[in-house]
Amino acid sequence: MSTEKKPTGHQQEPNRAVHPLAGKFIVFDGVDGCGKSTQLGEFEKYLSDRGVTYRRFREPGGTAIGEDIRNILLTKRGEGMHIRAEMLLYMASRAQLVYQEIRPALAAGVTVLADRYTSSTLAYQGSAGGIATADILATARAATENLWPDLTIILDITIATARQRTTKKGDIHQTGLFEDRIEQRPANFHQHVREGFLSQCDQFPDTYRLIDATGKPEVVRKRIFAAIEKFFGVK
Ligand code: TYD
Repeated sequence: MSTEKKPTGHQQEPNRAVHPLAGKFIVFDGVDGCGKSTQLGEFEKYLSDRGVTYRRFREPGGTAIGEDIRNILLTKRGEGMHIRAEMLLYMASRAQLVYQEIRPALAAGVTVLADRYTSSTLAYQGSAGGIATADILATARAATENLWPDLTIILDITIATARQRTTKKGDIHQTGLFEDRIEQRPANFHQHVREGFLSQCDQFPDTYRLIDATGKPEVVRKRIFAAIEKFFGVK
């Protein structure tokens, strides 16, 4: 983006002018236990160190309404829910987040980091749940009025590694990952989810980057930073 002063609008934001990552919408996604929350934390530090203003959101949730929807989706309250109702609730949470938080942030030149987005619906309710990609894309278009991330980072690990990682953790994750309603699904469900993420990387090569998320967190972090810097032309 040009550093010239513009007469009106958010382009005057210094944030936008100084860094190629300013005002971008970046999603981290992948199977449960792929390490995206840790890596998002690392990337937050990266942005802070460079003076890039950002906001981070999680899905489902990120707003009061979205957190209520999350409670239905990820607890016993959602038992017996049809996969299509589930897909629409994820989208409802997303619509609220997009209009309440994401669009205003981007309009102000703030970088937006999202822990999951439509890529998760395509993988979980689509590839694993059986809903056609075209139906999910059409619903996402309606829910977000066509707001797509500039870049979606997919962190890829095998399901066996993901399970090992999540059961090893002695923190809150022990009662979280693989234990809420969604994560109690059989191993082959998660395998389909993983394949769903991989096939999105093939399908949308212009806006997705696949990262090998095996190995130490600092090694994975370097891979992610390199991919993002290359994508946005950060010098
Ligand atoms: P969460 O506890 O936030 O897990 P994680 O830390 O792995 O993101 O739970 C979110 C769960 O919701 C996760 O299992 C994936 C699922 N999900 C979908 O099935 N569809 C979606 O569109 C989204 C956003 C999440």
